[in-house]
Amino acid sequence: MKQMSHIDHDIPSTPGKFKMEKSSYMNRIRWHYSSLAKLTFWSFVLFLGLILVFFFKSPTSTSSPLPSDLSRRSLRTYSWGGPAWEKRVRASSRTRSRNGLSVLVTGAAGFVGTHVSAALKRRGDGVLGLDNFNDYYDPSLKRARQALLERSGVFIVEGDINDIALLKKLFEVVAFTHVMHLAAQAGVRYAMENPSSYVHSNIAGLVSILEVCKSANPQPAIVWASSSSVYGLNTKVPFSEKDRTDQPASLYAATKKAGEEIAHTYNHIYGLSLTGLRFFTVYGPWGRPDMAYFFFTKDILKGKSVPIFEAANHGTVARDFTYIDDIVKGCLAALDTAEKSTGSGGKKKGPAQLRVFNLGNTSPVPVSDLVSILERLLKVKAKRSVTKLPRNGDVQFTHANISSAQRELGYKPTTDLQTGLKKFVRWYLSYYDSGKKSAQ
Ligand SMILES: NC(=O)c1ccc[n+]([C@@H]2O[C@H](COP(=O)([O-])OP(=O)(O)OC[C@H]3O[C@@H](n4cnc5c(N)ncnc54)[C@H](O)[C@@H]3O)[C@@H](O)[C@H]2O)c1
Ligand SMILES: *[C@@H]1O[C@H](CO)[C@@H](O)[C@H](O)[C@H]1NC(C)=O
Repeated sequence: MKQMSHIDHDIPSTPGKFKMEKSSYMNRIRWHYSSLAKLTFWSFVLFLGLILVFFFKSPTSTSSPLPSDLSRRSLRTYSWGGPAWEKRVRASSRTRSRNGLSVLVTGAAGFVGTHVSAALKRRGDGVLGLDNFNDYYDPSLKRARQALLERSGVFIVEGDINDIALLKKLFEVVAFTHVMHLAAQAGVRYAMENPSSYVHSNIAGLVSILEVCKSANPQPAIVWASSSSVYGLNTKVPFSEKDRTDQPASLYAATKKAGEEIAHTYNHIYGLSLTGLRFFTVYGPWGRPDMAYFFFTKDILKGKSVPIFEAANHGTVARDFTYIDDIVKGCLAALDTAEKSTGSGGKKKGPAQLRVFNLGNTSPVPVSDLVSILERLLKVKAKRSVTKLPRNGDVQFTHANISSAQRELGYKPTTDLQTGLKKFVRWYLSYYDSGKKSAQ
């Protein structure tokens, strides 16, 4: 795959060369002196024409017949490999302490991935990032996060989690002890616009990661991001890990649920140690522009009206907002308590750990309160427009029971929404200050 881009560039240049030879040839011969020369000349022109047709046609016939959205967003070809590249990969993955972990973080240019990578690196673990920098939201924000990580010594390999050859190469160069798998197509409503991107990243991509992990020697332990959205239309609160999760309300939720079942399979067949984390509405500095707290901030500052969803019978829509630093602590604790995978050479040797945890904040906040807090912090009054909650993926409320994570991970969220949003707003104002960058 990685050579495809070179081929694309090489082919059109070849017919160009033929053209040049043709014109110099034309200048030199005196074809009107002999009919034999004429015949030779015209057969030569015909021959050239056929070659041109052949070369111009061939690149289109080798290009992939995938939907344009997919090929544009995530199936671009990247260049990787070579001694200098391998050196960077090795240096980034090197641990500072003897017992340090060596972690491959997928989705490292994303919101959660950036924070987790930075925290791991800070405490001395080796970290290698992997991200395809797709344009689901402003890629310049992903580049800015990449620059941040680069300064702390984390290299992000540019590539897709479906690129098996790349993944194999990474495991050839580094014996990762852990994989923190955060790359995914996020967002609930976008699934109606581009459903295949969810299948590509959240299902096929997860399988690619697990395939390479199960064949790696030694097999790494894997911690990956599921979502609170798997609770779907459940009404019993708080949501517990043991509750049913078979009523997803969006394709996004369905792909995360599928991921949990796929994780079960790979744990069962290959002895991979797998921990799924169901995040509850994560927010904070360097956050995601497609999430409400982020675009509410932008819209309030612009004087645009903010849509506040309301359920049937004026029911409150509420979210269990969880601050990024609390989520990071949960992720690191999941990595630290993950047992080793038990398989080797693609074969299971014994039962392996399989876990799933809620990572929430245990205190749902109505979305209208979120807007009130933002108004106070921004010192701007919001134009509220109350709208009925559309039935296209968003659920009425989320509320985590975190007793399991508390018990096994020592997880204990400490940041309330007021405190967390204050930190977000401070970051937002400095990042988008004085119109240098514009929030798209
Ligand atoms: N932020 C939340 O509130 C929340 C809630 C529940 C679950 N999650 C899950 O947590 C994880 C991280 O979320 P986030 O908020 O940081 O999202 P994000 O979109 O900021 O990060 C995901 C990153 O993965 C990359 N990526 C996507 N598809 C890829 C592919 N095929 N190959 C390589 N890279 C790819 C993207 O470029 C992006 O940088 C995701 O799995 C998400 O579904 C997040
Ligand atoms: C939370 O989940 C635990 C099991 O992990 C359960 O024992 C407890 O009753 C639940 N709490 C509530 C309030 O539902």
